Order: sequence, then structure tokens, then C-alpha cells
Amino acid sequence: MTSILILNGPNLNLLGTRQPEVYGSTTLKDIEDLCAKHAADQSIAISFQQSNHEGALVDAIHTARGVHDGIILNAGAYTHTSIALMDAISSVALPAIELHLSNVHAREEFRHKSFISKVSVGVICGFGAKGYTLAIDAMMDHLS
Ligand code: DQA
Repeated sequence: MTSILILNGPNLNLLGTRQPEVYGSTTLKDIEDLCAKHAADQSIAISFQQSNHEGALVDAIHTARGVHDGIILNAGAYTHTSIALMDAISSVALPAIELHLSNVHAREEFRHKSFISKVSVGVICGFGAKGYTLAIDAMMDHLS
């Protein structure tokens, strides 16, 4: 059975109440439930995780090696700053998809730069919570 790690970075635990005009009113738990249902319908295994800490995200990526077939990563603000997360993805040599709820390219200039893009097979952004199920489908397509 194909297994996908869906990893969420800082402040995404506050979804639902955090800037709903930007990120919508869906909570991270709602998104997890959406992903679990979408994955179960296709007999895909998923692990859904969140951390506010860069090192914990690096650890989660390392632990994915040999366990998961791909990583969907919404690294939050670390997207724009973290060479450590970029290196972690390169180090485990698993396919990664960069994900954002918002269209980062329509926002502030500093959100246009991504270290994660450099090591990702593709990027999904701007589709809100729906982006997560789109990313699962994109990962399955990539792995097939
Ligand atoms: C985000 C976009 C990032 O720029 C921001 O720092 C986030 C959320 C998104 O999902 O739209 O925390 O990754």
C-alpha cells in the first residue's frame, strides 16, 4: 500500500482562527479528516503531522525514509527560510510536493522565494484546503 507523509509546519495548528480571510475557516483537524477520507477511498495510507519547530520537521522528514513513499509538505513560513528543510528532503531522496493553502505568489514578495521548490517535484498553492487532496492525487500520479 502506498504511504504518504503529510507534514505541516508552524502556525498551521491555528488554522480555522488564523487570518481566515487568507487561510479560510477550515481547521487542521478538518483537513486531516478530509485527507483521511480521500486516502481511504483509494486505499492509500497517510500520516498527518504538524510541528511548529524546524528541527522536529527535519526529524519527521528523516523518519519518513523507508516508511513513506512520498512527502506532502506545507512548511509554512519555513518554506521561505529553511535550508535545513530543503537539505532534509534532498537527504532522504523521497519525492516531495510543496503545498500552500494561499497563493503565495499573489502575496508579499518574501513569500515568492521557496527553498522547498528546489527539491520538490511540484507545487500546489492557492486552492485552500482542497490543495491537500489535490496533492495526494498528484503524488499518486507521480508515483505510478
Ligand atoms: C502558507 C504560506 C506561507 O507563506 C505562510 O507563512 C504560512 C502558510 C500557506 O499554506 O498558504 O504559514 O504555507
